[in-house]
Amino acid sequence: MKIIDNFSSNLKELAKSLVEGELVVIPTETVYGLAANALDVNAVKKIFSTKGRPQDNPLILHTFSKNEIYKYTKNQPFYVETLINNFMPGALTLVLDKSDIVPEIITAGLTTVGIRIPNNKTTLELLKLTGFPLAAPSANKSGRPSPTRVQHIIDDYGDSNLIYGIIDDGDCKIGIESTILKCEENQAIILRPGNISKKQLEDVINVDIIDYKGDKLLAPGMKYKHYSPSIPVILTDEIILNENTLNLSLNAEIDNTYPVNENNLYSVFRDAENKYNQINIIKTDSLINNTALFNRILRAVE
Ligand code: TXA
Ligand code: MG
Repeated sequence: MKIIDNFSSNLKELAKSLVEGELVVIPTETVYGLAANALDVNAVKKIFSTKGRPQDNPLILHTFSKNEIYKYTKNQPFYVETLINNFMPGALTLVLDKSDIVPEIITAGLTTVGIRIPNNKTTLELLKLTGFPLAAPSANKSGRPSPTRVQHIIDDYGDSNLIYGIIDDGDCKIGIESTILKCEENQAIILRPGNISKKQLEDVINVDIIDYKGDKLLAPGMKYKHYSPSIPVILTDEIILNENTLNLSLNAEIDNTYPVNENNLYSVFRDAENKYNQINIIKTDSLINNTALFNRILRAVE
């Protein structure tokens, strides 16, 4: 596993390795992704085995332009173009009917595919060099907090020869995964809240946007335990004063707590593993109102 900085000559080497079916860790504005050529079924299989990811959990396609999104999807509702123009590149994944070229392994047999244009200069350059879309789940081992810096990937995989290389682009700017929006003809459904809020989406498109709250899981991955550090995470109303417990509150709004927010959640979780026995998160109204952050915390607590 090579750690590679973002010079163009190295990107050519990485593009070649992707053509040859290798895995490469790519930086995005949300979290790092474990990428392979999405059109190469054997390469995509390596993503599932390396991550320990269940086969029924579909992968997101990463690409670089509106044209490419139209190439890998079909039956796009009228408002999709507005979403692309307003939010891409950016932390928004659209779930649309897949076109025939998208292999079934990517979508875990579903007829829809998740697709996004990541807002990271180096990764966009790499995508243009390869010409094919990259399938990329978050680069953590399944169940672990998503990686927002290179050290997190090394912590999960060691010096694994299953991964060809990692593009080191420092800390991810946003720190939690993209908003996933399922785009249907007459409504759009937020399957996973993220940095792009419902309000921001409502401001630009003229269609009902609903939060998914059903029994039937529309995003298969949401049923698995997620984002969890190796020590218990609990949500409470009060600080627990005890040297083995790390108390967190949103931006340290409560005295004697360490600040947590979207940008640092996963690195705080990972750093705490070696120093504490438990993480205690203070449940305040402002935390609950931060939909995306609170969603990840609830999933870690489960
Ligand atoms: O910000 C992100 O989206 C990051 C970066 C690397 O791009 N990627 C990411 O991928 O979070 P992953 O695999 O960790 O999470 C993808 C989620 C899973 O819950 C999966 O079930 C859901 O997206 N998903 C993918 N395709 C879907 C589809 N066709 N329909 C419904 N849900 C889908
Ligand atoms: Mg993930």
